[in-house]
Amino acid sequence: MQVKGQVAIITGAGSGIGRATAQLLAREGASIVVADVNDAGARETVSLSEGDGGNAAPVHVEVTESADIDAMFDFAQKTYGGFDILYNNAGITTGAPRWPDCSEEQWQRTIAVDLIGVIEATRKAIPLLKARGGGVIIHTASLAGLFGFQADPVYCAAKHGVVGLTRALVNLKPEANIRVNCVCPAVVNTPLVTSGINRLTGAEREEAERRLKLMPMLAPEEIAGAVYDLIRDDDATGVVMGVSLHDTRRVVDPPITLPVTSGDPNASGMRR
Ligand SMILES: NC(=O)c1ccc[n+]([C@@H]2O[C@H](COP(=O)([O-])OP(=O)(O)OC[C@H]3O[C@@H](n4cnc5c(N)ncnc54)[C@H](O)[C@@H]3O)[C@@H](O)[C@H]2O)c1
Repeated sequence: MQVKGQVAIITGAGSGIGRATAQLLAREGASIVVADVNDAGARETVSLSEGDGGNAAPVHVEVTESADIDAMFDFAQKTYGGFDILYNNAGITTGAPRWPDCSEEQWQRTIAVDLIGVIEATRKAIPLLKARGGGVIIHTASLAGLFGFQADPVYCAAKHGVVGLTRALVNLKPEANIRVNCVCPAVVNTPLVTSGINRLTGAEREEAERRLKLMPMLAPEEIAGAVYDLIRDDDATGVVMGVSLHDTRRVVDPPITLPVTSGDPNASGMRR
């Protein structure tokens, strides 16, 4: 898909990876719906994108609120006549204290933002994109969606869910010309990482700062570049794209694949 002339909704576009992607897509000629719960951040992204010569408009969205997701799509319809690209990027970490010591509310919020918000926005986007003749949905998962990220087990579980959702929707391309893909970044230099550390105290904070100094971080623009390429690649569907410093980008296949069967649920043939 050519980016020029398309309309992209980006959640979590008021900061970090979402902002860098909004700026890149706007520069490449897309119109951007800058969706975030942080209104000031969203407005800043709009002015940065417009400063680069692009079109962008802010909308308030709390991705855990179904009514806000509807309002986000309505806003895109009223402002730009619909949308072609949905980038489900908003996300949070669980923070301190770590699960299982955190409250029920705290860990459930991680699942609500990082997984349920993505599932619900995707559910609502599919009929709208079908009516438009197709489109692209991209999620920001994480490398934590591909291995056992011990620092935040609930975040890890949510991001594994996003990876699974992406792979399970591969058939939307032949069925409805909708391509669903995700990016799985390693550590990226954004407030998600730095403000997470600011919430820690004492020895835990010292340890986190020590570990972070050892960890070279990706720039948000590198993830934006991967998203851009996934939008443009008309063959990309069900793709889980790892983005890390050493590999740069790598399509990550599922560890287990099942052969296509006759549809008989009792048919086996699982292979590794
Ligand atoms: N920074 C990293 O190291 C890293 C690595 C892998 C994946 N990710 C993922 O990248 C995505 C973007 O994160 P980032 O690093 O740019 O962080 P960030 O904190 O800079 O940006 C996240 C944005 O999401 C918004 N947001 C949070 N909760 C929201 C909600 N409930 N409704 C609407 N908006 C909400 C925030 O206001 C913020 O603007 C997240 O999904 C995150 O899990 C980040």
